[in-house]
Amino acid sequence: MNNNQIEQFKKMKTEVTRFMMMYQFALNELETKIEILKEEFQFLHDYNPIEHTKSRVKSLESIMKKIGRKGITFSLEDIKHNIKDIAGLRITCSFIADIYQIRDMLKNQFNLQINEMKDYIENPKPNGYRSLHLLVEVPVVMSDGRENVCVEIQIRTIAMDFWASLEHKIFYKYNQAVPSSLLLELKEASDSANKLDQQMERLNREITAIKENQEEDYGQELSQLLMNNQQFKLPASLMRFGNQTE
Ligand code: GTP
Ligand code: MG
Repeated sequence: MNNNQIEQFKKMKTEVTRFMMMYQFALNELETKIEILKEEFQFLHDYNPIEHTKSRVKSLESIMKKIGRKGITFSLEDIKHNIKDIAGLRITCSFIADIYQIRDMLKNQFNLQINEMKDYIENPKPNGYRSLHLLVEVPVVMSDGRENVCVEIQIRTIAMDFWASLEHKIFYKYNQAVPSSLLLELKEASDSANKLDQQMERLNREITAIKENQEEDYGQELSQLLMNNQQFKLPASLMRFGNQTE
């Protein structure tokens, strides 16, 4: 390798490293946004819709494989344009309704644009895969300027995540056709997970309604007592304000 080649190689290495860093920064930005939403939601509604989040930047090896599969030329610009899941964020939440609530909270975010949405909950994949997929763009500021970076966000319930994680484990690197009996069972397992989601969602709705009724009743009782009951009048001794030394 002559000096010129070494310089070129170094330059390429720096460019690729910065390219990958850009995706990591986009994920960091997004995770901070989500952490803030989560804490604010907890404060306002005394409830946290997010069970956990997990992010990853695709490995160089996986990117290279995808370039080969999709027939993309090896230029960073083309890769950025054609591979939208280099940065991935998965949000697992408690109930199906939370998924759409999180989607709406992201929609309202300044500095975040949703470019594409695939609703595999309304329209599950034939194998039973369910999740809400968003392709979003987050601005990342680096020393030489600002770049809009694409991140794939998958939002799903714990049951959907359970199914997808195990399905992936079972079929990962299995390249032959899967026997149809197994495909059927897999679809049935997805239907069971969905039933569980529906049941938990209904239970949650019912309990929330009971709690709200109780709070309403309690509020009414309290105001009635305050209006009628002399016991709720402050004793005269406590009615004197101001002079603590009295
Ligand atoms: P890709 O080029 O593969 O990314 O295709 P696409 O852009 O049409 O992707 P899609 O939105 O359908 O899915 C992308 C990601 O969702 C995958 O990388 C997986 O993480 C997840 N996913 C999609 N389908 C399945 C599935 O059948 N099983 C599991 N376990 N995960 C899936
Ligand atoms: Mg993908």
